[in-house]
Amino acid sequence: MKIIVAENYKELSQKAANLISAQVILKSDSVLGLATGSTPIGIYDQLVDRYQKGDLDFSQVSTVNLDEYYGLCSTDEQSYRYYMEKYLFSKVNLSKERCFLPDGTNLDGKIECKRYQDLIDALGGIDLQLLGLGHNGHIGFNEPADFFEKEVHLVNLTEQTIQANQRFFASIEEVPKQAYTMGIGTIFQAKKILLVVNGKEKAEALKKVVQGAICSQVPGSILQLHADVTVVADKEAASLL
Ligand code: F6R
Repeated sequence: MKIIVAENYKELSQKAANLISAQVILKSDSVLGLATGSTPIGIYDQLVDRYQKGDLDFSQVSTVNLDEYYGLCSTDEQSYRYYMEKYLFSKVNLSKERCFLPDGTNLDGKIECKRYQDLIDALGGIDLQLLGLGHNGHIGFNEPADFFEKEVHLVNLTEQTIQANQRFFASIEEVPKQAYTMGIGTIFQAKKILLVVNGKEKAEALKKVVQGAICSQVPGSILQLHADVTVVADKEAASLL
């Protein structure tokens, strides 16, 4: 694992955006694996800025998001499709036909998981996967569990994740209790992985991911075994390393 420590959130966003930009410049038809949540917002702002300056071209890029809430449709402001449209898709020249997320409105979990896994496989896998980190060490919505789920699956979110995500909703009752997520195997097949971690409250989780035992109770710890992982963390998140 390569670890880059940034002075603050702005620098973290710039450094992570540099790595994504390099990927797109070197391979114009890259398949980018994308994440939502608060951490990547600054990165997407940077990418939009670079696109507007004429430094980046997304016209041949495909994107696959890690996850989507079960039951939410794309017009729901809390859906991850809505988030991606807001922060990235509507602001750069990505082709709408090449921006993929799990379909939260497909309530048949078995069919939707297979559809999304097959879609990623058909794209030839992911060139660069962007990941955030949950307080409990989750990546995507692979929650602490007794084993690693390999493929795209429907997951029951933990109480800790539901509480952490409450900040985006009017009340805790509105937070969906399930989500579709890429599995650990899906993520692991990405050629490169970029993990971004911000803030003191993630320091413990990042320490476990980078230096702890590899175990399914800390899903991100599996990244220690991947051949090409870069972690970009701000000083506070990296403070226990
Ligand atoms: C989001 C995702 C999650 C988040 C993680 C951190 O698509 O898959 O794993 O990356 O929960 O979220 P933030 O950045 O909001 O702290």
